[in-house]
Amino acid sequence: MKLIPVVLVGLAAGLVSAYDSAENIMDCLGSKDVPTYWPTSTAYPELAEPFNLRLPYKPAVIVLPTVAQHVQDAVVCAQQCGFKVQARGGGHSYASFSSGGKDGSMVINLEEMHKVELDKKTNIAKVGGGVRLGNMAQSIYDQGKRALPHGTCPGVGIGGHATHGGYGYTSRTWGIALDTIVAVDVVLADGSLKHASQTENSEIFWALRGAADSFGIVLNFYLQTEPAPDSLVFFQFGWDNVLTSEKSFVDTVLHFQDFATNASVVDDRIAFGMNLEYGDHFTMSGTFFGSAAEFNETIKPELLRGVPKPTVINTVEDMEWIPYLIIFGGLDNTINVPETGYDMHDDFFAKSITVPEKDGLSHNALASFYRYISKGSPSSYFVIINLYGGPGSAINTKDTEFAAYNDRDSLWVFQNYGEKANSVPGIVDWINGVNDAVIDAQPLTEFGAYLNYVDPSYSAAEAHKVYYGEELYSKLLVLKKKYDPSFIFWNPQAIGV
Ligand SMILES: Cc1cc2nc3c(=O)[nH]c(=O)nc-3n(C[C@H](O)[C@H](O)[C@H](O)COP(=O)(O)OP(=O)(O)OC[C@H]3O[C@@H](n4cnc5c(N)ncnc54)[C@H](O)[C@@H]3O)c2cc1C
Ligand SMILES: *[C@@H]1O[C@H](CO)[C@@H](O)[C@H](O)[C@H]1NC(C)=O
Ligand SMILES: *[C@@H]1O[C@H](CO)[C@@H](O)[C@H](O)[C@H]1NC(C)=O
Repeated sequence: MKLIPVVLVGLAAGLVSAYDSAENIMDCLGSKDVPTYWPTSTAYPELAEPFNLRLPYKPAVIVLPTVAQHVQDAVVCAQQCGFKVQARGGGHSYASFSSGGKDGSMVINLEEMHKVELDKKTNIAKVGGGVRLGNMAQSIYDQGKRALPHGTCPGVGIGGHATHGGYGYTSRTWGIALDTIVAVDVVLADGSLKHASQTENSEIFWALRGAADSFGIVLNFYLQTEPAPDSLVFFQFGWDNVLTSEKSFVDTVLHFQDFATNASVVDDRIAFGMNLEYGDHFTMSGTFFGSAAEFNETIKPELLRGVPKPTVINTVEDMEWIPYLIIFGGLDNTINVPETGYDMHDDFFAKSITVPEKDGLSHNALASFYRYISKGSPSSYFVIINLYGGPGSAINTKDTEFAAYNDRDSLWVFQNYGEKANSVPGIVDWINGVNDAVIDAQPLTEFGAYLNYVDPSYSAAEAHKVYYGEELYSKLLVLKKKYDPSFIFWNPQAIGV
């Protein structure tokens, strides 16, 4: 069975979902030979486990497709039996949406769809929906010395990452991962398989880039790659004398903000983040598309002008592409991770703040933030403040005409990440307090939040406002009703909730 008219499907879903449909879904998937795992299967507990163990939702069924037809059949069965559906790419959703975002959903785990093929003529990489970033980066490099912009953690999946942003230290140069998508193969809510691009099924192509969780299951991404640089600069500075006083912290960050917005020294070749570790560490790490000699001569003097001398780390190094990725990846001498059966986890609560470029961070906001974190936290945490904007940033040259993605005018993006959230539940309130400390101290600024650090503590309405804003959200809602009228692609913050 290929296409079921939407009207019929809607009718069937309405009739069947009125009573318990667990048996029906088992029959439906069984009759089409869709590979499934049920709560009674031995492999279920590990397959169901999300990256974030704080939110361990229990799917009603986990589908493990090996071909597109399995996904199409699964979606049609979910329609007929009244189940909500989420794809699972790398499983790294901060809110465990890829486990459904509630108990009892259908999860379509794409880990068997992990092929990466580089077209040597177009330099477009065809990347399966279940590929993880480290394997993708290694594979396109091995196939043709190509590269893509994306996040640093090798275990993150392209599926969630590229459809909800995708920032790394090459993004000011090359854009976010989302910007590299030139086409997708996607299964829609009616079970149809579509190729979508700027010229083909362009509405759905637009919506998927920013809201894929609400619109379909992407089976393949077609990504425009870049030549991997022969060499680029990794820099890192570390201080134990910045967090020692409010004045020292605020002055240091305000200087980095002046630096980041100074067009006589910053262009699209540089990116960095400031990192506060639990305890007393303050570091800055980044990338420069150039040589260490040039960085030391023309950039470092302005970057470090007037701030305390780095006391702990002082590294500026020319690196080849893969070793550079390994340094940021944090694994032991590799960026390759298991294609299937990946089993790394954390237990955390995190949220984000996007800081509009036109306002930047005020003295007040930084002082308030400093006073808040100085009081100590109930468990370990880190804060990363990444540079998105500034002169030449490729992230901010696009708008919501290009894709259904709104975070195009940020100077900084905060990630506030609290660990051990299961054993120390107080860390959740504490991390919420970090956000409040910044936001309340700068009341005239309209802060937002970053979609890929999806925050389960927001109501659906709050989430729609901070991630999309009213105008973009209302456009997405129109398309949601058109392409997924029975709202089967669902999580607690999906479009239409
Ligand atoms: C350790 C760690 C490091 C991180 N580092 C960075 C970073 O450097 N930069 C950055 O920008 N972000 C980073 N993130 C955040 C990361 O980008 C998001 O969590 C991302 O959404 C994860 O993608 P995934 O496929 O692994 O997640 P999943 O949990 O599988 O998916 C996330 C959401 O996308 C949907 N989805 C997944 N695959 C598909 C698909 N094929 N089709 C349609 N919908 C799909 C899911 O249904 C779910 O709603 C990091 C996260 C972690 C846990
Ligand atoms: C650049 O500066 C770092 C210290 O910050 C030093 O270790 C490195 O050798 C310098 N490199 C060049 C090429 O000047
Ligand atoms: C911008 O950088 C230049 C070059 O280092 C420097 O001379 C100038 O003072 C900087 N401007 C600001 C506002 O910091």
